[in-house]
Amino acid sequence: MPVPADTAPVADKVCSGRVLVVGGAGFIGHFVAVASLLAGRPTYVLARSASVTKAKVKALQDNGAIIVQGDINDKECMEKTLKELRIETVISAVGGEAVMDKIPLVQAIKATSSIKRFMPSEFGHDVDRAEPVEPGKNMYIQKRKVRRLIEDSGVPYTYILCNSIASWPYCDNNHHSEVLPPTDKVHIYGDGSVKAYFVAGSDIGKFTIKALDDPRTLNKSVHFRPQSNYFCLNELASLWESKIGRVLPRVTVSEEHLLALAAENRIPESVVASFTHDIFIKGCQINFRIEGPDEMEVGDLYPEERFITLNQCFDEFYARLLKGKQVGVEGGEADEVIIAAPVEA
Ligand SMILES: NC(=O)c1ccc[n+]([C@@H]2O[C@H](COP(=O)([O-])OP(=O)(O)OC[C@H]3O[C@@H](n4cnc5c(N)ncnc54)[C@H](OP(=O)(O)O)[C@@H]3O)[C@@H](O)[C@H]2O)c1
Ligand SMILES: *[C@@H]1O[C@H](CO)[C@@H](O)[C@H](O)[C@H]1NC(C)=O
Repeated sequence: MPVPADTAPVADKVCSGRVLVVGGAGFIGHFVAVASLLAGRPTYVLARSASVTKAKVKALQDNGAIIVQGDINDKECMEKTLKELRIETVISAVGGEAVMDKIPLVQAIKATSSIKRFMPSEFGHDVDRAEPVEPGKNMYIQKRKVRRLIEDSGVPYTYILCNSIASWPYCDNNHHSEVLPPTDKVHIYGDGSVKAYFVAGSDIGKFTIKALDDPRTLNKSVHFRPQSNYFCLNELASLWESKIGRVLPRVTVSEEHLLALAAENRIPESVVASFTHDIFIKGCQINFRIEGPDEMEVGDLYPEERFITLNQCFDEFYARLLKGKQVGVEGGEADEVIIAAPVEA
C-alpha cells in the first residue's frame, strides 16, 4: 500500500514507552535490542536463566538495558513481568525452534491491556504468501498460527518482514552475517538470476524500532525492500569479487540439490536449504506486489532514512577479512557493541 510520506515521523515523538525485547541474546534479537538502546528507549531484555550471563546479554546491560530473567512459556510469570515493569511494547525474536512458545506470550500480552504493540518473531518473509518446501514449511505453518492467534486475541501488532540479512546467503547456515563471504569459490543457486533484498542487521533493528509505535504500522505488515540492496546472486558474487580483487570459481547448485538438502530434514540446515530454494529459485521475496490494505514498505514510511547499502556491508566484510576475524558485520561481537549513553528506565 502506498504510504503518505511523513516528513516528521510520529514515532520519533512518542518513543518514551518501555520496550521488552524477548531473545535479546539471539541473532536478530540482539540487533533489535541494540537499536532500541541507540534510539534512547527504556529497553528491557528478557533472557532465560541460562542466558543471563552470556556476553551478548552483559554487553546490553552495560549499555543501559535492564535484564529480566524469564521464559515466555510461563504465562503467569510473563503477565506479572509485563504489568510490574509497565511494559508498553513487546518485540519477540525467539528462534525458529521456539515458535510455538509464543502462544503463552500472546496470552500474557492479551491479559495485559496496557500493551500498545506486539511484534512477534517474524523477521523474514511473508509467511501467509510464501510456501517453502519442508521443513521450512512447518515453521511457516507455526508462524501463521501465531499470527491468527494474535489477530483473534485483539492484540495490536506489527509484522516485520525484513527479507534476507546482508551477507553471503549460505544454504546451510541460519546466521549468515556471522560468517564472511567465501574466498575459495561461490555457490550459485540455479542460474543466479533471481533477485532478493539484503538488509544489514543494524538496519533490521533500526527500522523495527522506528515502526514499533508508529501509528501507521498498527496491525500492518512492514516489508523491507531497499532498492540499493536488491541483488541477484550473480551480482552479489561480482560485488564480492570487486572487493577482494579476484574472480572466484562459480559452482552451480541445482534446484534438485537444494531440495535434496531440505529433504535431509536436519535442523536448522535443511530449514535454511528450503528457504534458499524459496528465495533464489522460486523468487518468494519478489513474486508479489505490496499493495494490500494491511501492508506497507519501510522506505515509503521513512523516505528520509537511508539504508546501509550492500556495497558498504561488503566493504566491512572485506575489512574483516583483512583483519582475519570471522565475526558479525555490525556489532555482532559482544565486546564491539557500541551503544549510546544509558537511558532512564
Ligand atoms: N531474515 C533473516 O535473515 C533471518 C535470519 C535468522 C533468523 N530470522 C528469524 O528471526 C527470528 C529469530 O531467530 P534467530 O535466529 O535470531 O534466533 P536465535 O539466534 O536462535 O535466538 C533466539 C533467542 O530466543 C530466546 N528464546 C528461545 N526460547 C525462549 C523462551 N522460551 N523464553 C525466552 N527466550 C527464549 C533464546 O534465548 P536463549 O539464549 O536462552 O536460548 C535466544 O536468545 C526467527 O523468527 C527467525 O525465523 C531471520
Ligand atoms: C488491531 O488489531 C486488533 C486485533 O489484533 C484489533 O482488536 C484492534 O481493534 C485493531 N486496531 C485497529 C485500530 O484496527
